[in-house]
Amino acid sequence: MLAPMEGVTDHPMREILTGLGGYDRCVTEFLRVTDHEYPRRVFVKICPELETGGVTRSGTPVYLQLLGSDAAALAINAGKAAALGAPGIDLNFGCPAKTVNRHGGGSALLRTPETVEQIVAAVRDAVPANIPVTAKMRLGFDNADHLVEIARRIEQAGANELCIHARTRTDGYRPPAYWQQVLEVKHLLNIPVIINGEIWNTDDALNARSQSGCVDLMLGRGALARPLLARQIAMQSKCQPLPQLPWEDVLELLKVLLAGAVDLPAKYAGNRTKQWLTYLKLGYPAAEILFDRIKRMRQVDEIARALY
Ligand SMILES: Cc1cc2nc3c(=O)[nH]c(=O)nc-3n(C[C@H](O)[C@H](O)[C@H](O)COP(=O)(O)O)c2cc1C
Repeated sequence: MLAPMEGVTDHPMREILTGLGGYDRCVTEFLRVTDHEYPRRVFVKICPELETGGVTRSGTPVYLQLLGSDAAALAINAGKAAALGAPGIDLNFGCPAKTVNRHGGGSALLRTPETVEQIVAAVRDAVPANIPVTAKMRLGFDNADHLVEIARRIEQAGANELCIHARTRTDGYRPPAYWQQVLEVKHLLNIPVIINGEIWNTDDALNARSQSGCVDLMLGRGALARPLLARQIAMQSKCQPLPQLPWEDVLELLKVLLAGAVDLPAKYAGNRTKQWLTYLKLGYPAAEILFDRIKRMRQVDEIARALY
């Protein structure tokens, strides 16, 4: 699965990455729910795929992610997203952002397992049974003491799947990810458990799978650094040669991403390109050179010329 990444895996990026193959599913950036029901246009803005059957052009389902702490409001919006055609609803219990946590959302909820359970139960109740409700959590807020309890409550409340980013909120994004801490949950739960965090290459995928016991993987930043990572992992499982994406092809994808940013305000339009390059630098030395060339450019035309 392709991980949700706010400000990164927007619609154009999901199109690009799922178009390269290897993904069974992706998730939107989070939609923050406070106390009211959003109008249709808000859902379509975060998930334009709602207009195309809830799938990307390559047919990959896109689950819509909600973030919030008000169970009733989350339930209303989840029901609406499902009615609008979302093929699944994902609940965010992992966001570490201070503003989000201050309002009790994201990873802050991991301090109150009963609220997590109430939210999942309310959302499950509001969404038709044939539409999956999934949850994404970290190991805990500042420790993993409640991991098993929260995971059990999420299952008990009716979630269809649980993805675990194998770090606490306090760990932030610092390596390592503690894949082995997910093993107990994987054994205890009957729903699929998906391992996430710090999977940058095929060796990491092997290790994450063997240490966590999980078969299913969710790729975040590694998918940006190596756009073919999902396919490489799939090929590795079949003992087949790993496909590689030459830099020239990556350049073409960068052009597509830039072209897809035309609707953004001019001063932001180039930011996605720059941001992707910061991850591509990890897999492609040429990305570093290009990044240095464009990092101070503000005009989209200027950036576009640098890509040609
Ligand atoms: C820039 C950025 C934005 C993110 N936004 C979200 C989000 O909207 N929802 C969510 O559940 N996780 C979000 N995450 C967390 C990722 O989905 C993932 O759990 C995390 O990056 C660990 O995976 P990785 O080590 O493979 O990157 C975000 C991560 C990054 C780096």
